Amino acid sequence: MVPMIDLKKQFAGIKDEVLAVVTEILESAHYVLGPKVSEFEKKVAAYHDVAEAIGVASGTDALHLAVKALDIGAGDEVITTPFTFFATVESVIYTGAVPVFVDIDPETMNIDPAQIEAKITERTKAIIPVHIFGHPADMDAIMAIAGKHRLQVIEDCAQSFGADIRGKKTGSFGAAGCFSFYPSKNLGAFGDGGLVTLRDAGLGDRIRILRNHGSRGAYQHQSIGFNSRLDELQAGILLVKFRRIDAFNSMRRENAALYNAALADRIRKPIERKGVKHVYHQYTIRSAKRETIKNRLNEAGISSVVYYPIPLHLQEALRFLGYKNGDFPAAEEAAEKVLSLPMYPELEKKTIREIAEIINNV
Ligand SMILES: Cc1ncc(COP(=O)(O)O)c(C=O)c1O
Repeated sequence: MVPMIDLKKQFAGIKDEVLAVVTEILESAHYVLGPKVSEFEKKVAAYHDVAEAIGVASGTDALHLAVKALDIGAGDEVITTPFTFFATVESVIYTGAVPVFVDIDPETMNIDPAQIEAKITERTKAIIPVHIFGHPADMDAIMAIAGKHRLQVIEDCAQSFGADIRGKKTGSFGAAGCFSFYPSKNLGAFGDGGLVTLRDAGLGDRIRILRNHGSRGAYQHQSIGFNSRLDELQAGILLVKFRRIDAFNSMRRENAALYNAALADRIRKPIERKGVKHVYHQYTIRSAKRETIKNRLNEAGISSVVYYPIPLHLQEALRFLGYKNGDFPAAEEAAEKVLSLPMYPELEKKTIREIAEIINNV
């Protein structure tokens, strides 16, 4: 089966370096918040040109701690997109705040800035744009709205490591950028991991305290925090992959260009807005014949996945928010038509041509 992402192939290419760093860490016996975490944080902060980067246990925790550090909680509202992974809104709900959805721009499938202002109330505290599938959300428009209404912006960069707008990286626009290192992400660990980038150093202390039981020094607790640290082993492995992230993203972009050229014009392909660097965490087409395409690919031994079949406003767990079918037509249409195809740096050109041919024939 052609997988969605081939992590075995990726490991084979970095095996010696990974085993060396893992051995070094195991022998050092420094397993939590050691030098590899610090080195990784410094390198990621420099890469994003931000004041700080703080490793945490997952992308979900990165979002949760960022929302909490910004003092958002019960009685507050946070505007976000219904077309994302569930964790985006879980992080808001954990704090007691209420997620408020705004429909997506059908072109990029990111939150539509033109519809945000209508949803702002006196309770609105923040906007969480998600750079879905690796295409940056319209941060110029979002930052302008946030500035006008004095709202915080927390970027969900789980799928966009390395993406930029005119050279400025996602995760460096808002107060905080939240990254996931889940294994299948563009920069993936060998387990769970996450990180918060901070535009200004001000929030750094709060997040460092929150990730470590509300504690600044041993057994002195300034607040109620969490156990949410990036493991030293994961940081060591991430440092190996981080050296290659730009090359990996370039290979993804080449593969996307090849898909674009090989797929017939009648198939709706992902777009890349002017001035934007898409990092193709997913290469997602849209078609009314999705199920047929999926079946044909499956018969040919090729994986494909529907990210996401149910927009968040229609999820059973979020029924209490009171949304109904028809509330966000663009997100609902996307959920009916999207299909993500295999996409990873090592994907072979001939496989891309083969996949395109199967789809063109449907
Ligand atoms: C858009 C988005 N937000 C948040 C997350 C949560 O990240 P994690 O799985 O590391 O908790 C993910 C991925 O899983 C994601 O795709």
